[in-house]
Amino acid sequence: MTDDPLVETRDVAKHFPVESGLLSRLLSREEQWVRAVDGVDLSIAPGETLGLVGESGCGKSTLGETILGLLEPTDGEVWYDGERIDDASKTRMRELRKEIQVIFQDPSASLNPRRRIRDIVRRPLEVHDIGDSRAERNRRVEELIERVGLSADQLDRFPHEFSGGQQQRVAIARALAVEPEFVVADEPTSALDVSVQAQILNLLDELQDEFGLTFLFITHDLSVVRYFCDRVAVMYLGEIMERGTTEEIFEHHQHPYTDALLKAIPSTDLDDRGERAVLEGDVPSPIDPPSGCKFRTRCPVAEEACAEPVEEQTFSETQVVHCWKRSPTEHASSSSPVQDGD
Ligand SMILES: Nc1ncnc2c1ncn2[C@@H]1O[C@H](COP(=O)(O)OP(=O)(O)OP(=O)(O)O)[C@@H](O)[C@H]1O
Ligand SMILES: [Mg+2]
Repeated sequence: MTDDPLVETRDVAKHFPVESGLLSRLLSREEQWVRAVDGVDLSIAPGETLGLVGESGCGKSTLGETILGLLEPTDGEVWYDGERIDDASKTRMRELRKEIQVIFQDPSASLNPRRRIRDIVRRPLEVHDIGDSRAERNRRVEELIERVGLSADQLDRFPHEFSGGQQQRVAIARALAVEPEFVVADEPTSALDVSVQAQILNLLDELQDEFGLTFLFITHDLSVVRYFCDRVAVMYLGEIMERGTTEEIFEHHQHPYTDALLKAIPSTDLDDRGERAVLEGDVPSPIDPPSGCKFRTRCPVAEEACAEPVEEQTFSETQVVHCWKRSPTEHASSSSPVQDGD
């Protein structure tokens, strides 16, 4: 990537205090933190879609909300278009909402049930003083609602009168009303029927080109990533295990965790990669994660040395792997993805 990043996280951590109760009394003081995000470096170039993937509870939403300024990082920095924003004032953060928007998983929870669709989509235009008159704002709302595949004569309805897919279209129209540059989409299709998911993804894809959007696309669904993302970051217990272009992650991935996630996809084109469902055991608690590589307790190729701090291995300008067992020199002589038990 030659472009300067639009969005960057530098060693970002977010630790939540463990809620009071029996568990917190049993733990020593320094263990009383949920290490939801633990030292994440990411960058997203303008116009790019970065997919953030990983199992439930690995910290994807926490990282997204930290980037959005909805959560304050415990450590590290968030940069947007050359400006540090994790310590921005409330006023500045409000201004930045014109550039940075979000689409959440559950549209029914993110749309005010007592407001008509017209008011919901017009509200950001009013907040950011976009448009010279109410009539102009209303025109803009009509354009937006039609652009996302609904019709202007539905604008006086309330959210509950729409299906989940239609509600998500309204949430998309609202997010795009201010013409943002960057959108965090946190599982935008996972609450929807499978048949509707593809329609919403197609819509987001078209709108990305039309509006020149940059996306952080959070999902646990790797088949969606393959379709939608330029680059992918694979997260496990608050850390990025591997990142690379979508092609690198799908065709030449190196981390045993990436491999396990890919093998778990129920898709015919991966059937020739052998057995599925290699991920055994539960994800350890983020309150007391394993030392060294956090994946080592479930990793098929782990050894004692994996309990030591891990140095990242750089495979290409874009592919970085958080596993000392993967060597870029070996990779140069073989382009096959990671093998179990080697
Ligand atoms: N406000 C909070 N207080 C305490 N712990 C929290 C809080 N928010 C999240 N966590 C914990 O942080 C960890 C990461 O949660 P997060 O919601 O970011 O994961 P996720 O990857 O988005 O999961 P999912 O795929 O289920 O949405 C989890 O262990 C979660 O229980
Ligand atoms: Mg989440």
